[in-house]
Amino acid sequence: MKNALITGSTRGIGEQIALELEKSGYRVFGCARGQHDRKNFLSIDLSEPNNAKVLYLKAKEALGHIDILVNNAGMYDYCPVEKTDFNTMQKMINLNFTSAFLLCSYVAQDMKQNMWGRIVNIGSISGAVGEANASLYSATKSALSGLTKSLALELAQYNITINQINPGWVDTNLSESALNEEEKKETTEIIPQRRFIEPIEIAKLCKYLVSQDAKGLTGQSINLCAGLSCGA
Ligand SMILES: NC(=O)c1ccc[n+]([C@@H]2O[C@H](COP(=O)([O-])OP(=O)(O)OC[C@H]3O[C@@H](n4cnc5c(N)ncnc54)[C@H](OP(=O)(O)O)[C@@H]3O)[C@@H](O)[C@H]2O)c1
Repeated sequence: MKNALITGSTRGIGEQIALELEKSGYRVFGCARGQHDRKNFLSIDLSEPNNAKVLYLKAKEALGHIDILVNNAGMYDYCPVEKTDFNTMQKMINLNFTSAFLLCSYVAQDMKQNMWGRIVNIGSISGAVGEANASLYSATKSALSGLTKSLALELAQYNITINQINPGWVDTNLSESALNEEEKKETTEIIPQRRFIEPIEIAKLCKYLVSQDAKGLTGQSINLCAGLSCGA
């Protein structure tokens, strides 16, 4: 049985990934700031960089070892560059990038020993193509793409793959708090498929990426975005 650590597992994309992997027989350890009734779970704030180590050690204690890491927890901020405050900047870099980097560095040791591993980073098309008034968010997600490609090279010889899913707009709390009803309607009109992605679509792709069938796929960023990243 394979063991998976999933960050931000209590709602939205992370919750669907946790449910989908559990349905397929994986043992899942989840986390979020809030509480959850899941057995293998830690309430923790990953925007505090030292907490990545705490989470890793708790997950390892509960599961024995970690085969799969899904770096999903993230925050979004829609804000012109000149108004972005330093605290938000530090918090977002810590959560969207630093915690993911640190978790990769911890699990890589175990995965190398086991000669098998899967890492999936949840990026964003904002990191693939840029988003006006979300430069900080976009920068953190682009940084994840660099990490994904570099670690793919570094870990390839150990049967460890690392890939990134870049969602477009997804129906979750994150998009609900970013857009009011009117903005959601306007946004839908510029998406080629005229719809938001459902979290389960991301979860199904993630399930494939962590499977044995996907062993040749590494270092890739896949835009699951209803066509949004293709241009107008
Ligand atoms: N929704 C979209 O349109 C969209 C588009 C592109 C990319 N994404 C990316 O997809 C990922 C998941 O987004 P989502 O839409 O599913 O978001 P969501 O519905 O807001 O869920 C976020 C999850 O992460 C947890 N979380 C948030 N801040 C955390 C922190 N500081 N420490 C630990 N856990 C934390 C949340 O629980 P707590 O609040 O209890 O901590 C929750 O479980 C993010 O990386 C996001 O950037 C989303």
